Amino acid sequence: MVAPEKQQLKTVIITGGASGIGYETAKLLLKTGGYRLALLGRNRAALEGAAQSLGGASSQISVFSCDLKDSTQIRKIIERIAGTYQGIYGLVNNAGIYSVGDLASTTEDSWDEAMSVNLKAPFILCQAVAAEMTRSSWGGRIVNVSSTAGILPNQSALAYSVSKAAIIQLTRSLAKDLGKNNITVNCVCPGIVKSPLHEAYHPGGTQLEEFYAKRGAALPLGRVGESRDVAGAIRYFLTEEASWITGDVMVIGGGRLLL
Ligand SMILES: NC(=O)c1ccc[n+]([C@@H]2O[C@H](COP(=O)([O-])OP(=O)(O)OC[C@H]3O[C@@H](n4cnc5c(N)ncnc54)[C@H](OP(=O)(O)O)[C@@H]3O)[C@@H](O)[C@H]2O)c1
Repeated sequence: MVAPEKQQLKTVIITGGASGIGYETAKLLLKTGGYRLALLGRNRAALEGAAQSLGGASSQISVFSCDLKDSTQIRKIIERIAGTYQGIYGLVNNAGIYSVGDLASTTEDSWDEAMSVNLKAPFILCQAVAAEMTRSSWGGRIVNVSSTAGILPNQSALAYSVSKAAIIQLTRSLAKDLGKNNITVNCVCPGIVKSPLHEAYHPGGTQLEEFYAKRGAALPLGRVGESRDVAGAIRYFLTEEASWITGDVMVIGGGRLLL
């Protein structure tokens, strides 16, 4: 393995890299320079489209289609990435699904799906990636994407809120566990951010825009977030300046938790 400072590019894996916050993070890291990106998601066409519109050289972006509910597939892909690029510098556990339902209406299947994608997959990814990072002498960086719902539960989003609370504790537990290997583990908690995540629940452009306008007006900063607002915080946790920060939970919510 080659130490990152001696490598031309640091390899960072971004799950859910084809859209929303993951895509904006990829864009920002490419703009910053010094990173090679591996984008993971289910939809290969979407990943290839994202790689093309990001416009990086093909040596800078690779895409891997993978259903994160499949742990075996995850482990194989991580092994492939580590082998191809001589190690892994960073992991951004960004992929996630929203799940609507209160106690009475949440089905066992929707509970299992939320836990599988939002919590178990990040755990498996951390385990596989940390094993690679630990083999190196320089450590690595993990950034998990939780939600303000993980601190202040969303109404009628029981499984989602619980999964996002658990990822905060996964972050803190792994920060304790992996500090000795110089691996930092931090977490961002976005509030409401414009992204495809909301489209399934607010079909039709007008309804979605009204939802954003109403929720934004209620926030101290008067607007909902853009994916780039969150991407900046994720990038920060990957930088050298953040090398002594671990187990941190950064809220990026326009003041959402002050309400
Ligand atoms: N937008 C918000 O208001 C908000 C607020 C708080 C937290 N967040 C969190 O931010 C993260 C990113 O969400 P986003 O807002 O950017 O929405 P998004 O554009 O819908 O991103 C979610 C990504 O997750 C991927 N994904 C979902 N299920 C997957 C699976 N089984 N296997 C592989 N990939 C899967 C999707 O890729 P495919 O389509 O290819 O499956 C998609 O690219 C999520 O963890 C979300 O919970 C968002």
